[in-house]
Amino acid sequence: MRILQCIALAGGVLLAASCAQQQASAPQYKSLYDRLGQQPGLVVVVDDFVANIAGDNRINHRFAKTDIPKLKAHLVDQLCEATGGPCKYTGRDMVTSHKGMNITVAEFNATGEAMQKALQKNKVAQADIDAVLGALGGMQNDIVGK
Ligand code: HEM
Repeated sequence: MRILQCIALAGGVLLAASCAQQQASAPQYKSLYDRLGQQPGLVVVVDDFVANIAGDNRINHRFAKTDIPKLKAHLVDQLCEATGGPCKYTGRDMVTSHKGMNITVAEFNATGEAMQKALQKNKVAQADIDAVLGALGGMQNDIVGK
């Protein structure tokens, strides 16, 4: 819209130059992916998330046979895609990934806590923590009791 106004108003070189400056200083809206620190930020959050899971006796036994580097890479891609980043998640869907595990609500909530702590440790804003946890919460029905 501003570009159109600028073009409409641009009667001379001076005006055009001032419009160009307006464009450059126009507010840039950041995606949740940006606010989480893009790919490097997500790698750190996922590292902390998995470390929190490893330290939690309520759930760590579940991951005893899991290929952890592969899981981390999948989690980064999944979070990246879900928060507006440029990645494409290529892992299995959530029902298939957790089939036969019969994961409980308590275990699901413990996993959410592990993510909450990871985000808090990395000084993510509360509203953004809520957004990430909300996205994970939306997967509960695909993960619990399968
Ligand atoms: C919203 C919460 C969760 C998300 C986003 C999530 C995401 C994922 C992803 C992306 C994978 C990898 C899929 C693949 O390899 O193709 C995976 C695998 C796995 N998840 Fe979850 N998960 C969640 C909750 C849980 C919970 C609550 C548990 C158990 C306490 C759990 C246990 C596992 C295990 C053990 C694997 C590895 C399966 C294997 O090695 O074949 N997950 N999860």
